[in-house]
Amino acid sequence: GDGYLLAPSILSADFGRLGEEVERVVEAGCELVHIDVMDNHYVPNLTIGPLVCAAIRPRTRATLDVHLMVRPVDALVPLFAKAGADIVSFHPEASEHPDRSLALIREQGCRAGLALNPATPLAHLDHVMDRLDLILVMSVNPGFGGQSFIPSAFEKIAEVRRRIDRHRERTGHAIRLEVDGGIKPDNIRAVADAGADIFVAGSAIFGAADADGGYRGVVGRMRA
Ligand code: DX5
Ligand code: ZN
Repeated sequence: GDGYLLAPSILSADFGRLGEEVERVVEAGCELVHIDVMDNHYVPNLTIGPLVCAAIRPRTRATLDVHLMVRPVDALVPLFAKAGADIVSFHPEASEHPDRSLALIREQGCRAGLALNPATPLAHLDHVMDRLDLILVMSVNPGFGGQSFIPSAFEKIAEVRRRIDRHRERTGHAIRLEVDGGIKPDNIRAVADAGADIFVAGSAIFGAADADGGYRGVVGRMRA
């Protein structure tokens, strides 16, 4: 529907030809490219640093959506800003001072997001709504692609949607609601109905290439 954005997670792309993979999902109509940054500390996996983000930047004009799963947070923010990130999100538990980290992201010229794990209370949103451009609700525990959507996320998405709408009524400030983990053609409608407007999908997109190597087929099914 209108205003719904797809954010393929390159975690499930073929890293041997990452530039092409990025071009192909954008050609297929995806608006964002989701970059999962893991540090073998905050999460038990090690993935993408600022060098790889900088290598992707000249391959596309799509929004680069950097999801930091790292602790500490602040030292990496300027590095990803310089590497061309448009959005930088982090997990509040991983920052000593989330309000400061959010301000830093905007000072660096990026849009700022908070990422909430399945068991992270929404109280982390209190007092920082004005600093947020995006709230990322995790529907899996962070660390790996290809996990199953955790059903308790539906209620959480709906509650975050209510908070975002209330905040917009009071202040006029609009915040995007992104959902990340286990999204597939057969559950994306339900995630949208719960209130999401940005949909991350890794394995469901990169695991379903068309015969020509493109992603128009699966992207069409995600939007159906
Ligand atoms: C999980 C990552 C997600 C995830 C998405 O830690 O943040 O972006 O890999 O992949 P799928 O869609 O395969 O769950
Ligand atoms: Zn992610």
